[in-house]
Amino acid sequence: MKSRMGGLIVSVGIVLILCVFHTGFAGEKAVQDKDASKKMNVSRYDETARGINAPMYAYYAEQIKKKTGITKGVCLDVGSGGGYMGLALAKITDLDFIFLDISADALEKAKLHIVEDGLQKRAKTLLADVHSIPLSDGSINLVISRGSIPFWKDPAKALKEIYRVLAPGGKAYVGGGRGTPEVRAQVEAKRKELGMEPQFGPKPRKDSNDKGPGRIPQRNYEEILKNTGIVNYTMNRGDDGMWIQIWK
Ligand SMILES: C[S@@+](CC[C@H](N)C(=O)[O-])C[C@H]1O[C@@H](n2cnc3c(N)ncnc32)[C@H](O)[C@@H]1O
Repeated sequence: MKSRMGGLIVSVGIVLILCVFHTGFAGEKAVQDKDASKKMNVSRYDETARGINAPMYAYYAEQIKKKTGITKGVCLDVGSGGGYMGLALAKITDLDFIFLDISADALEKAKLHIVEDGLQKRAKTLLADVHSIPLSDGSINLVISRGSIPFWKDPAKALKEIYRVLAPGGKAYVGGGRGTPEVRAQVEAKRKELGMEPQFGPKPRKDSNDKGPGRIPQRNYEEILKNTGIVNYTMNRGDDGMWIQIWK
């Protein structure tokens, strides 16, 4: 009887471990932010990101490799969506990846792309909130994040969390943008070829003057960084967007 019970406990343990491996980490569902999923049409975004916008992610992956020099260890892609930037970085490095997002729908896309790109052994997903990252101190070599910081409710708290999980010698590359003017021109040319509306046309973008639900807050990131107490950082606004680099 005792040995049957022992066998059962071992089997349940194995099933749980396999679930974590396939779907991410246990207890993920609890943190899912339905609002974040609703704010964007995940499927439409995914199609564009994997198609027309692919050169933009390839560009940022090259920048991250060049500027951080980190090509081995564990990379955490925060607010990864379908994992586009991390997947581009996987092509040119030996890094392993954790794709963290608060939207289960976005992570479903990431899981699909991990398989499509044959990265099952190097990548997994983690349904979580950047404000409370369920990973140990010093466990990550590189944190990357594109286009997610404007959605964070408390970016100073989130940046402190990112700093906490960085290993000594680790770096973070966090920000947003749509590539250089050359990359944007390439994307626009492709859109035109496919008969699509220009992405940067006369249509007004939602900004701080827009008080609607899709409003993206304009924030003073320099001030926010000062409030984190992190000393090793740079912040740049260039023609490829706003990017914060942090190192430990
Ligand atoms: C505009 S998308 C960017 C997706 C992807 N990084 C890219 O470059 O295409 C923003 C992502 O941030 C995620 N997000 C928003 N708030 C978050 C939070 N507090 N914690 C983790 N992810 C969050 C959203 O669910 C969404 O997938």
